[in-house]
Amino acid sequence: MNLSVNIAGAILKNPVMPASGTFGSGREYAEFVDINRLGAVVTKGVSITPWLGNPPRRIAETASGVLNSVGLQNAGVEAFLRDDLPFLKQFDTRVIVNICGRSIDEYIAVAEVLSGSGADMLELNISCPNVGEGGLSFGADAGMVYRVTTAVKKRSGQPLIVKLSPNVTSISEMAIAAENAGADAISLINTVLGMKIDIRRRAFALPRKVGGLSGPAIKPIAVRMVYEASRAVNIPIIGMGGIMTGEDAAEMLMAGASAVAVGTANLSKLTATADVLDELILFMDENGFNDIRELTILS
Ligand SMILES: Cc1cc2nc3c(=O)[nH]c(=O)nc-3n(C[C@H](O)[C@H](O)[C@H](O)COP(=O)(O)O)c2cc1C
Repeated sequence: MNLSVNIAGAILKNPVMPASGTFGSGREYAEFVDINRLGAVVTKGVSITPWLGNPPRRIAETASGVLNSVGLQNAGVEAFLRDDLPFLKQFDTRVIVNICGRSIDEYIAVAEVLSGSGADMLELNISCPNVGEGGLSFGADAGMVYRVTTAVKKRSGQPLIVKLSPNVTSISEMAIAAENAGADAISLINTVLGMKIDIRRRAFALPRKVGGLSGPAIKPIAVRMVYEASRAVNIPIIGMGGIMTGEDAAEMLMAGASAVAVGTANLSKLTATADVLDELILFMDENGFNDIRELTILS
């Protein structure tokens, strides 16, 4: 059975990877999951300087997913290069570094520092708040998606994946803007803006009021957006949003993704990434698929 996929010129041994921010630096999960089995590891967001993140509470549970407001806390790119990258490079897997910034210059700076490193690809998180535009995310506007992607692509030494936000009217428009700007691949979806109110306390569940919803609740949104984006562009798509099982992964591949990322599932089940891979193989076996790429082709 062939499970390998080609994302932006890099061959991944299989299409399963963790979603950014839900797998720590990989170290936290290495005792539960054989990282060598994963197609890639995606790091949490890395910025040019350390970010403190948002004050607690940062996570609120909902009926079918979680709302988070972590605020991209991270120790900065120098600490990442010193502490995390050497750990990840021990494994026979691809390393995708998710990057964030509060301005185009900050994105460029972190991409340049990572250029000569052992990172295989960069994933540009354009859901970061754009300080210059009053906190509006870069991913909310097609012109901004084009500008930030062009700028980072010019300076990055690695293939660039642009991670799209679902909090837009037309995902196709954003996918096309990323492709026209030179993105080598796109990934979607990031979290969906949501809110929860604790009616007993008459207070917002998260101090910042709004959070990003992830998990099973958003899977139908993700499947629809992956499908629409796959019709709009020719570059490969990494699909994510609510993947809990191998069958969910198969659905995302059938929607048009070439690879999949497992996010919130890691928070409730430490072995989720490996389990999704095992279940996907079982699904293929039981349904007569010999090549993972056969799943992606659905009209
Ligand atoms: C706790 C948490 C932290 C996250 N951190 C990041 C991040 O640093 N960068 C990023 O691009 N996405 C981040 N995400 C979004 C996920 O990578 C993913 O796009 C989203 O959660 C949808 O997938 P899921 O439903 O499988 O979780 C985070 C999600 C969660 C739940």
